[in-house]
Amino acid sequence: MKKSISRQQFLRQSSTLFGGAMLGSFVGLEGIANAFPKPLIRMMYNENPYGPSRIAQRAMQKAFKESNLYTMRIAQIEFAELIAALNATTPDHVSIGFGSREILNKAALMNGIDNGELISPQLTFEAINRYAQNTMKSKVVRVPMDDNIGIDLDALASAITSKTNMIYVCNPNNPTGLALNSNQLEAFCKEVSKKVLVFVDEAYHEYAVGKDYKTMAHLVSPENKIIISRTASKVHGLAGLRVGYAIANKAIVKRLNSYMNGSLNVVGVRGAIASYGDKSFQSFSIQKNNEALQIVSNHLDSKGVQYLPSHANFIFLKTGMNIKEFQKKMEKHGVKVGRPFPPYINWCRLSMAKPEEMKYFNKGIDKVLNL
Ligand SMILES: Cc1ncc(COP(=O)(O)O)c(C=O)c1O
Repeated sequence: MKKSISRQQFLRQSSTLFGGAMLGSFVGLEGIANAFPKPLIRMMYNENPYGPSRIAQRAMQKAFKESNLYTMRIAQIEFAELIAALNATTPDHVSIGFGSREILNKAALMNGIDNGELISPQLTFEAINRYAQNTMKSKVVRVPMDDNIGIDLDALASAITSKTNMIYVCNPNNPTGLALNSNQLEAFCKEVSKKVLVFVDEAYHEYAVGKDYKTMAHLVSPENKIIISRTASKVHGLAGLRVGYAIANKAIVKRLNSYMNGSLNVVGVRGAIASYGDKSFQSFSIQKNNEALQIVSNHLDSKGVQYLPSHANFIFLKTGMNIKEFQKKMEKHGVKVGRPFPPYINWCRLSMAKPEEMKYFNKGIDKVLNL
């Protein structure tokens, strides 16, 4: 017998379906599973395989209902207050961005408007350099790494000229996962930020805390030209919702804000507010990440493969094989690994998946490299 449904029932059901489909993409349900077939495990984009937290999901579900309203400003103010409280500062020291990528881009924009040159390590997260070069047509001076593929702070300082306006330091660095010695970085920031703007990218801050790493957020002061950027994309697992922030002195925040888009989506910001309050999900994510790192590093140790000690949710290892070839071969073993990071093209950046999934990488690398 044909079942007829009322218009109201239809609307109710279709909105549930639509909401479910939207949520499915947040929580990694059917939609996302189809887009990225299960056999290929995502070990290429430094994502959190567990996020977002249940508490964040509930907050976002609730926020859907206010998506028709321009309430994102209220949520953003609340988020800035939360970030300020977590970092022992005030909201006028916080700038909220559409992901920390927006902060990086707008810092590069500021630098370009000032006709300044940017100094950056040769091997690092390229977003700020690309925006500076491609969009602002600024000169980017790339400084070689030290002998251990670490950021060479002395060399960065020596590269400063009268044209330098900004220096980018990613700590822990992407793709190496290495953290800088905190005393040396602090001395560097104190000295250099009197002359030029120091941008410290702390996207992987939460994974590094408790290891030999220290944030530079405490150096923010009216005298120091320093920007600290962080993100909800990593430990909070909100990469697709685009929420990040910067901490800087009031004058820098004011200027940054004048270039920012100024509004994020209310669902993402509500999710971030809930997630930053969900300490147990953060600890869980960090613990699982450390377990996954341990599984891979034990395996690499047992096979004598060189890698760098990671302070993040990825590890940089030397395969000795061109990364493009390695990528292709690993896909045949069900694993997607990170992109090329020239000039280290015989190295691979491997993002952590769930601990139980890391065996696929271990088995794959054994086959591909004949270990
Ligand atoms: C070092 C670093 N900074 C910034 C970002 C940008 O993150 P998002 O724009 O998602 O906040 C990333 C992303 O992977 C990163 O690795």
